[in-house]
Amino acid sequence: MKPLRKAIFPVAGLGTRFLPATKAMPKEMLPVVDRPLIQYVVDEARQAGIEHFIFVTGRNKSVIEDHFDRQFELELTLSERGKKDDLALLSRDLPGPGTTSFTRQQSPLGLGHAVWCARELIGNEPFALLLPDVLVQHPRGCLAQMIDAARELDGNANVIAVEEVPPASVSSYGVVGVGPSKGKAFAITKMVEKPKPADAPSNLIITGRYILQPEIFDLLAKQERGAGGEIQLTDAMLQLQHTQPFYGLKFEGRSFDCGSKIGFLSANVAYALARDDIAPALRVEIKRLLGDK
Ligand code: UTP
Repeated sequence: MKPLRKAIFPVAGLGTRFLPATKAMPKEMLPVVDRPLIQYVVDEARQAGIEHFIFVTGRNKSVIEDHFDRQFELELTLSERGKKDDLALLSRDLPGPGTTSFTRQQSPLGLGHAVWCARELIGNEPFALLLPDVLVQHPRGCLAQMIDAARELDGNANVIAVEEVPPASVSSYGVVGVGPSKGKAFAITKMVEKPKPADAPSNLIITGRYILQPEIFDLLAKQERGAGGEIQLTDAMLQLQHTQPFYGLKFEGRSFDCGSKIGFLSANVAYALARDDIAPALRVEIKRLLGDK
């Protein structure tokens, strides 16, 4: 596979499951401990070697663009007050000059449509797609594991991160069928959106990280609106599967669906418990809260 240089971050959704918090603030800016969701996912991509970060934004999302810019007034004040650690933190989080691009999805017509909106910025090369509301807690992140696995696959392979869920829960997700293994990955035989447990080909669900070939764009362009009236990425992937192989990778690490309230709250607790500066006090608080129940 050609080296993977670019990643798409779709951030144009309405975030209705988090209303009213997301009425004026993007869901992707909700903080897990003290960093916005989008920062974790951009860091995961940077760690995996991605050089260009493409955000598909919508109305009310300009704060995401500001987040990835310098804030001179704040920096000046911090510097005058001698807050070196805070300044270092801000500069650590910032992608390099010229490495971010922002394009608009004018109407939130679905994930497939959001990806298609980035076609001119991607051009004719494979790309990563990371959903910012899925966090994967692992020292290397999920995308780096996928890139490792992709090295052992054909040049035109598409790779999807998958994880196990209890069989009774499959009906909320996209589920894959499992074929022969190849290196760390396995061939995906089918993809089924939200199957009944009895019809599910496995209990492995599609989890918010993809490596896709640029041929997906032509298929997305022709896509009709599918489930929920949205242009679905899975429909285009199913068509692409006629001409290109798809592989699944069972990644290491724990994922959190921060688009749901429970996933978001769990992520906050898990990420705080992983921090030496917060964990001891949080354990005490959790014990106290649970003791009251
Ligand atoms: P979700 O379905 O989780 O996000 O899409 P949503 O639609 O904003 O959330 P709810 O269901 O209304 O609460 C996954 C990612 O795809 C983006 C979202 O911003 C989110 O990061 N997305 C979704 C778009 O960019 N455009 C869309 O039309 C839909």
